[in-house]
Amino acid sequence: MALERLPGFRDFYPEPLPHTDVWSADARQFIFAQWRTVARRYGFREYDGPPLEPLELFTTKSGDEIVGQLYNFTDKGERKVSLRPEMTPTLARMVAAHERNYKKPIKWFAIPQLFRYERQQKGRLREHFQFNADLIGETDPAADAELIALLIDTLRSFGLTEQDFVIRLSSRNAWQDFYKNGKRKSESETAEYEFFQAIDKLVRTPKEESEKKLSALGFSLAEVNQFIESGKPTAELESILQNLAARGLRNFVKIDYHVIRGLAYYTGVVFEAFDAKGEFRAIAGGGRYDNLVKLISGGKVNLPALGFGMGDVVLLELLKSRGLLPKFDVHADVFVLIEDENLRADSLKLVQDLRAAGYTVEYSLTPAKSDKQFKRAQELNVGFTAKLDSDAYVRIRNMKTRAEVVAGFSDVVNHLK
Ligand code: HAM
Repeated sequence: MALERLPGFRDFYPEPLPHTDVWSADARQFIFAQWRTVARRYGFREYDGPPLEPLELFTTKSGDEIVGQLYNFTDKGERKVSLRPEMTPTLARMVAAHERNYKKPIKWFAIPQLFRYERQQKGRLREHFQFNADLIGETDPAADAELIALLIDTLRSFGLTEQDFVIRLSSRNAWQDFYKNGKRKSESETAEYEFFQAIDKLVRTPKEESEKKLSALGFSLAEVNQFIESGKPTAELESILQNLAARGLRNFVKIDYHVIRGLAYYTGVVFEAFDAKGEFRAIAGGGRYDNLVKLISGGKVNLPALGFGMGDVVLLELLKSRGLLPKFDVHADVFVLIEDENLRADSLKLVQDLRAAGYTVEYSLTPAKSDKQFKRAQELNVGFTAKLDSDAYVRIRNMKTRAEVVAGFSDVVNHLK
């Protein structure tokens, strides 16, 4: 029996893709490169952490939803461990350990592969890559605006426009005030988290079910909906909107109190990026988590923080549907033709010289008919073929113009330039 991959995991193949059921390694590389470019433009530096962490790191403050999805096990040293379902706790741990070595605010990004044992559905797999950008050590809403601007520019860098996506901006502070001022039935943190969870699931849950959940906590669906519809920005949100307006980015953002975020550690401003037509799940999500560093460092380090995560799955689906993925053709710069096997040794020397000069070079590993070699060169869309005429002269052919020149062996690189 042939072995197959696990459900919810992906194989990434070079293009052209052999099957509709596999993913493009080229598209993935393209997305990563774009993420890195824009993050660096905003002055973010790259970090990474281990894919396997102590289980406790995630049970501390990520919330029940994500804990229920952990890929966790006991290792051979009897340690309780888990594959990382998200990057934020790792980042909080890393920052707390060495924050003194870095000027504030700390602006870092990473592209981790994350693992969640989710029910498979459109846009949700059991493994995904997530662009994480976080800013640590600044409480001013200017930091929130800077991060949202990075989120917008990242999406714009793929060719997506105001017509394609929207950032829904909200605040847990606003919801906390609503909750504290309401007729809540319990003072416990669990009840508050349950309330937040009910809000988070509102759009995807049948009305009666939400009504039941909310009334158990002391609230009615009507008053919750009324609060959402009022959509009045808090002072903090107003300041972010103004900051974004100054950058010409105001139209990308909408106040939307439906957004409250599922993860337990968020403390203030929260936001999510969605495609404008509402066809897909969230492209990205994030917010403030001003207490997480303190919690994870056992109270030793106290730093405000905020950030977002953008997954590759929904982003790829969206780019594909809008025709915004480039074509990924195979390509080599030069094909070295070896028609006279007596010149193979010298040809290999030429191949190495050209590669050392930075060119992508292909050639036939074993003796082959010259028309077969030429056909392969064409398939690879090469710019040039190079063929030794003797051990001292090389015939270079420009595949576009078909012009041919003969150059001295050591002069080939100059001619290619
Ligand atoms: P999150 O909302 O859980 O946030 O995930 C962020 C994004 O990752 C989602 O909007 C989605 O695009 C993608 N994503 C999440 N789960 C899956 C999945 N199973 N399959 C495919 N894509 C998925 C966080 O993880 C926070 N730690 C983000 C953050 C960083 N907050 C502050 N800093």
